[in-house]
Amino acid sequence: MKILRSVKGMHDIVDEEIAKWHYVETAYRQHVERYGYREIRTPVLEPIELFVRGIGEATDIVEKEMYTFMDKGDDHLALRPEGTASAIRSYVQHAIGAKEAQTKWYYIAPMFRRERPAKGRYRQFHQAGAELIGVSEPSADAEIIDMAVRYLSDLGLKGIGVQINTLGGSESRARFREALVEFLLNRETDLCGDCRRRLHVNPLRILDCKVPGCIEISRTAPSGLSLLSQEDREHFDAVRRLLDRWGTPYELAPSMVRGLDYYTRTIFEVQVESDALGTKSAILGGGRYDNLVAELGGKPTPTIGYAFGIERLLLVLGETARPKSPVLVFVAGVGEEGGVRAFDVARNLRGFGIRTEVAYTEGSLRSQLKKADRFGATFVVIAGAEEASRGSVTLRDMSTGEQVEVEMDVLASRIGASR
Ligand code: HAM
Repeated sequence: MKILRSVKGMHDIVDEEIAKWHYVETAYRQHVERYGYREIRTPVLEPIELFVRGIGEATDIVEKEMYTFMDKGDDHLALRPEGTASAIRSYVQHAIGAKEAQTKWYYIAPMFRRERPAKGRYRQFHQAGAELIGVSEPSADAEIIDMAVRYLSDLGLKGIGVQINTLGGSESRARFREALVEFLLNRETDLCGDCRRRLHVNPLRILDCKVPGCIEISRTAPSGLSLLSQEDREHFDAVRRLLDRWGTPYELAPSMVRGLDYYTRTIFEVQVESDALGTKSAILGGGRYDNLVAELGGKPTPTIGYAFGIERLLLVLGETARPKSPVLVFVAGVGEEGGVRAFDVARNLRGFGIRTEVAYTEGSLRSQLKKADRFGATFVVIAGAEEASRGSVTLRDMSTGEQVEVEMDVLASRIGASR
């Protein structure tokens, strides 16, 4: 019979990989919870309109990459391609703004984009992100950038490059768009086919085109920084002053734009130089998106956030992501009574939070030790009838082969001390 395989660009995560996932996910939760972020979980399916309105109709994500379908009740749905629009939909739907002045949410969740699969680019991938809703101050921008960078550097990630830019508020953005279109109209025939179309629907995206001719044109395009309003400039300067004060590394990237339309003011990306991903590529992206709450039907509310791809992070972390494997105890029961007692011992150890395996089938001590070795056990506890009469067991250290008799009362603490 034909063996069924997972969908192209969508992968199982098994064996040693899953330990690495737990490692980065646990570190992420602990890190952002220290800054006051709480987890939010939203559905994988959303009305398609959420992303059309939220991310923007003329973005690659909405135009080409979303998985959409009509369900049996004729509702037009989409698998979420990112987490921000869903978080804000939830914020507006539950009128969170009426209950609290500021909201800090984080998520770790699968996302779906029908891109061409490549190393570090999948059709189902996972993002960990954070959204800070209700704070307009530049300190929020600086703190969230610093929070993201500290997480990555605490994991031991090397070669981190942080790029920041500002798109300005609505007014500055409109001025920039106008100047850009004027500049590009004179060079329209030299643009690639996609960009000729973008020029009329989403000209800022042209600055992000990877076609060599378009890169060349973008190089001399007007800079948004020179067209900023006084307020936008002051905001950006304040963000940079804080980052400088904390020694958070960053570079100014005046031509950086982002692939989603909702951004205003500060935007940022983290790139990592790594052979694992081929070229320099972005593992994290984010920015301010002060108009999205209102666009989704809420009161105007300032917002900023970011997300990174877990697969990409693990690729660039490589062996650095190897978590310390926890102690594993194998309990071997000798004889009929020992076999039963082995389960008592295992239940006792698990109660102390120690990972414990037991042999379900009876066998000689020799065969059980072999089994323990295959499991990769750190210790074997031998529950024999003789020690039972003294309320003790034998503890064998699998790395040295050394054996000692230990009283049951102190067994867990003795094993725990070796962790
Ligand atoms: P984004 O830049 O589209 O931003 O995605 C963020 C990260 O998700 C990327 O830097 C990358 O690591 C990962 N990623 C994106 N597409 C793929 C893919 N096909 N395969 C593997 N990884 C991928 C956002 O999604 C925004 N929602 C970020 C944000 C949050 N802005 C404000 N708040």
